[in-house]
Amino acid sequence: MSIKAVLFDLDGVIVTTDDCHYQAWRHMADEEGIYFDRQINERLRGVSRMESLDILLERSHRVYSEVEKQALATKKNEHYKQLIHKLTAADILPGVMPILEELKHCGIKIAIASSSKNTPLILNGIGLANYFDAVADGNDIQKSKPDPEVFLLAAQRVGKLPECCLVVEDADAGVEGAIAGGIKVLGVGAAAKNNKATLVADDLSAISVTNILSL
Ligand code: BG6
Ligand code: MG
Repeated sequence: MSIKAVLFDLDGVIVTTDDCHYQAWRHMADEEGIYFDRQINERLRGVSRMESLDILLERSHRVYSEVEKQALATKKNEHYKQLIHKLTAADILPGVMPILEELKHCGIKIAIASSSKNTPLILNGIGLANYFDAVADGNDIQKSKPDPEVFLLAAQRVGKLPECCLVVEDADAGVEGAIAGGIKVLGVGAAAKNNKATLVADDLSAISVTNILSL
């Protein structure tokens, strides 16, 4: 069955927010005296804010209550929002706009499927708030990647069956989620090394609609 919709992850696929997440978590970890580095940060790719906090707290020497955890997550997010406030269209990753334009031109639906609750803010910052046929994000779902919920919702919102969709992901959790939802997946960036992906590429500049339609 040929591809009729492409469901794009946002962070690390459309726009490079990775370093802003790292800086904000790092600041919070330093304040709490918790060890945190870029290797741990890689485990947060695609994972929800509260689950990311739980991963970060694995290195903590004390137990945090739910109320304390909420406060830490809010603090991290306030800092993160200050950092992403500076995002503009110049932060859109290489190859993204050409493939989006080509897909639109060919009548293939395009959607965002992201774990981030900051999706509206980011899409606004980069000038793509009204660009996609549908958006499904962290505000809409109960279970974050590797659960397929956000992908299935995005597919539903563009009115296409999962087997007619392609997910584009930079996170291993996202690759797993797509597979769990019965959706083909293109791994880019950090997921370019993922051998479970249907197709891989370093970034979207290496991909054309012809590649997508041949899947
Ligand atoms: C994902 C990121 O897109 O969104 C994760 O890859 C992040 O690193 C998650 O934790 C949740 O983001 P937010 O913006 O809701 O804190
Ligand atoms: Mg991502």
